[in-house]
Amino acid sequence: MFSRSRFPLAMIVLLVAALALAGCAESDSDSRYQHDPEEGNAHSDPERPIALVTGSTRGLGEELARRLSANGYHVIVHGRSVARGERLVEELVAAGGTAEFRRADFLELAQVAGLANGLLADFDQLNLLVNNAGIGAPEEGHGLTDDGVDKVLQVNYLAHFLLTERLMPLLEAGAPARIINVSSGAQAPIDFDDPMLEQWEPDERQIGRHYAQSKLAQILHAKDLAERLDPAQVTINALHPATFMDTYMVRQAGIEPQTDVHEGADRVMQLVTDEVGTGHYFQNGEITHPHEQALDPDARAALRELSQQLIEGF
Ligand SMILES: NC(=O)c1ccc[n+]([C@@H]2O[C@H](COP(=O)([O-])OP(=O)(O)OC[C@H]3O[C@@H](n4cnc5c(N)ncnc54)[C@H](OP(=O)(O)O)[C@@H]3O)[C@@H](O)[C@H]2O)c1
Repeated sequence: MFSRSRFPLAMIVLLVAALALAGCAESDSDSRYQHDPEEGNAHSDPERPIALVTGSTRGLGEELARRLSANGYHVIVHGRSVARGERLVEELVAAGGTAEFRRADFLELAQVAGLANGLLADFDQLNLLVNNAGIGAPEEGHGLTDDGVDKVLQVNYLAHFLLTERLMPLLEAGAPARIINVSSGAQAPIDFDDPMLEQWEPDERQIGRHYAQSKLAQILHAKDLAERLDPAQVTINALHPATFMDTYMVRQAGIEPQTDVHEGADRVMQLVTDEVGTGHYFQNGEITHPHEQALDPDARAALRELSQQLIEGF
């Protein structure tokens, strides 16, 4: 069950380079959509476990929402596109499931906190959190968010760090609960002297550094948090779902897809249904060594401290 990473280096370079060249999501221009508590929520059956899948308005997350709904979960669909989110909810409900949509743009930490606050107000437990939302490169180009964080690092990693922290009471109430960080085989170490990559000068070989460091940060997060949680209550693992699935992110980067979301969804569902332990990184369905920085407890502690500082006040 334990193997060294076999993710081809050439693929990582191609992926991160191509992702950096493309904006990776359109979003609806309508104002923020938050669930109206007066409407109640569609989770009327207390026997149904509850899952939140971030970034489930398309791609891998959308397929995961379908799988989880078919497996009896009440699915909280999340993303920025109200139209795609509501369309998916309608589809899941028409198929006999229960689901609802919550909108939050992870480029704003206040919206992440708003999403968490809404869920804390509306639910008394959460059984599964899939930290899946992601971008390859920002639509408006690289730089910092208004929160002062590298845009890719914020959407892919820090927003999920904040969400996970804030939702922990719901997850503990939903024990045994699971957290799954959808990471990638594309991994680059975090430079703690320049974590926002402001001083960093891209070269051709490392053009996708923003994406790759955010994906490694998700693995450090999983390993660090696993050490601080009671595994009988809440487990957390990270994985590379599949290589070049046919999704918006991959197509926008100009990459020829090599597989589809079914392969990635199979891999994620393995972490939902199987006894896989906690604190692991999975690739090709096996526990695999991620980049060595994730194995360094000092680096994990440094990222935790930095992240706590960055989310202070939210
Ligand atoms: N595709 C691959 O081959 C591959 C390989 C390895 C890892 N992964 C990882 O798999 C995950 C899913 O990727 P995918 O290929 O399914 O991508 P995708 O089809 O582009 O979907 C990305 C999802 O993230 C959401 N999202 C993007 N920006 C957001 C923001 N600012 N705030 C909130 N949500 C946002 C999108 O919602 P809206 O569209 O509604 O904004 C969408 O639902 C990512 O974490 C990615 O890094 C993918």
